[in-house]
Amino acid sequence: MFMRRLFFISAILLLTLNIQSQQTASVTLFPEKTTNKVSPLLFGQFIEFLGTSINGGIFEPGSPLSDENGFRKDVIEKVRELDPPLLRYPAGTYIKIFNWKNGIGPKENRPRTRNLIWGGVEDNQFGTAEFVKYCKTIGAEPFLVVNMSTASAMEAAEWVEYCNGTTDSYWANLRRSHGYPDPFNVKYWALGNEEAAEPDAGRLQDPVKYCEEAWQFVKLMKLQDPSIEFVLCGADEKWNRIILEKMSPVCSYLSVHLYAFDGPSPVYGSVFKSVASFEEVLESAVSLVSSYPEKVIDWNKWYRFPPREGPVKIALDEWGIWPSSGTGTYNLTIQYTWEHALATAQFMNIIIRHSDNIGMATWAQMVNVLAPILTDRSGLVTQPPFSILREYRKIAGGNRLKLVSESPDLASNLKMLDLSAVLSSDRRIITLFAVNLSGDEEIRTSVNVEDREKWLIKEITELNAKSVSAFNSLEQKKVDVVRTAVVKPPKGNNLTIPAHSVFIIKLVHQ
Ligand code: AHR
Repeated sequence: MFMRRLFFISAILLLTLNIQSQQTASVTLFPEKTTNKVSPLLFGQFIEFLGTSINGGIFEPGSPLSDENGFRKDVIEKVRELDPPLLRYPAGTYIKIFNWKNGIGPKENRPRTRNLIWGGVEDNQFGTAEFVKYCKTIGAEPFLVVNMSTASAMEAAEWVEYCNGTTDSYWANLRRSHGYPDPFNVKYWALGNEEAAEPDAGRLQDPVKYCEEAWQFVKLMKLQDPSIEFVLCGADEKWNRIILEKMSPVCSYLSVHLYAFDGPSPVYGSVFKSVASFEEVLESAVSLVSSYPEKVIDWNKWYRFPPREGPVKIALDEWGIWPSSGTGTYNLTIQYTWEHALATAQFMNIIIRHSDNIGMATWAQMVNVLAPILTDRSGLVTQPPFSILREYRKIAGGNRLKLVSESPDLASNLKMLDLSAVLSSDRRIITLFAVNLSGDEEIRTSVNVEDREKWLIKEITELNAKSVSAFNSLEQKKVDVVRTAVVKPPKGNNLTIPAHSVFIIKLVHQ
């Protein structure tokens, strides 16, 4: 009797354990219902005069690791793996005290100026021309931010002329005299940065005031080069409404900045909750930008330049993970763990899911500050989010795929299995990103396609680490905790996605 009871209790226990260790989920993909292209510009990066983001990060003249331009060769090699098609510069909050004229011409004449925002002194050796050269080296488009706080609209217009001017005129000629006969052709220009923020050096915290100033900047900059496109500062919903109400004819992009935070006393998964909350923020921004017609009508010809072309889109021009574990006054130096890599993948999925309305995104920041790459004088190490950014970049140019899914919850409003999918431009390959956010449970997942017979799971890559708290460090540069494994595709459509893994599943059209 006792033995039978023991057997019964153990069976129940095992069953419970089994239920706890394996969850089930399903996804159905609809390749016939693809929508817009996932813009390559969603995989951009950002650098700022902040700590060693630029100096001592990507740029270190005189270092044995640098080339003749002072660009760190080891960093370039890693940045090329990330392959950002867009690079945002020079900031960030720093823009509010930035004077572009300090960073042009002969290097020995450039002034040393105090970095009143982040501390220290800037030697202005990595100025406009060096930035554009760096962009060329890594194959990225330059994306410049102008100072609306302590500089004038005319100075911004002169910067446009210096960069893009082709006439026989002062600023274009100055660029030529600095050794750059060809224009830099900078297309993307942001009007300020986080202008709603009160504590920093900005002075335009009122959205109406910001718009009044921004019109003046737009007019003078566009008169210099009518082909440039503007990113206007966003903030909360109320602010965004006013910006678009007043600026939509010239606003190609509304800027949104989103940093995932894990709260003052984080536990495993806090950061995922923060990322998940961004879905709502983006939905609200999407509904606003998409309420404006693609074509601007009633444009006053006396402006002497054309209005925006194409729909208003979101520029997620600062996104990333800013956990409380960072060091320094503003927690900006982060030792990212594998948990943060999972959050990055979850974030990328959200970006892809909203990619019809997000026109560009730049991860903040590329090196040393909230970054996937950490450097010191003797080399570098990549952090766990690096592998995620690198892998997602590969699907750029495909079309977002509609999918429906069922997943157990990890917490309230947080799915355990997070998904996004893209169909290649030749319509032959579906890439499904499946992120298992659970720290200890695998998920048995059935992958279905609307037109099932025609699609076969051909290839699976698993990104994972031994534990969610695994990290890489500059002290052990050769160690990478991220494991990339090839998983044998299943015979049918059921597969098991291990705890805390990212599965990149390729389905091929037969
Ligand atoms: O990326 C660090 C800082 O975060 C940027 O300077 C600012 O724009 C944001 O608040």
